[in-house]
Formats: sequence, C-alpha cells, structure tokens
Amino acid sequence: MYVCLCHNVTDTKIRHLVRTEGVSSMRELREHLGVATQCGKCAQCARHVLNEALADMPADAGCPGMMAAA
Ligand code: FES
Repeated sequence: MYVCLCHNVTDTKIRHLVRTEGVSSMRELREHLGVATQCGKCAQCARHVLNEALADMPADAGCPGMMAAA
C-alpha cells in the first residue's frame, strides 16, 4: 500500500529499508525516502509501518554491514 503519496513510498519500500539498511527512526526514513517532508499527512502511517517492521526484525539480526562473529 502507498504510505506517502508525495514521494511514492510504499510500506514494502519502508520494510525493505529497515531490513537492508538498518533504518530505525523517522529521521532516517525522512533522509532515505523523503517521507513526511512535504505535506506531512503520511507521518503517522509511516511511523506505524516503521514500528511494525522493526518489531518483525529477528532479535539477533545484528547490524547491517557487520560481519557475524565466528
Ligand atoms: S504524503 Fe508523505 S509528505 Fe505528503
């Protein structure tokens, strides 16, 4: 579904960013996708999707880009 119409951002795009780039805050979402930087109507929905995506992350996911200990 579309979360931010001003910047064509979907919930799938947000979830992908959380998984692959380790995005974990609205500030980072704004920097990466421009969410909530124009009309701002999407802020609440974007925060909800972000929180859901973070809750779905496995506890031992670690930091993206970091190598796991052997
Ligand atoms: S809908 Fe996201 S800034 Fe307008």
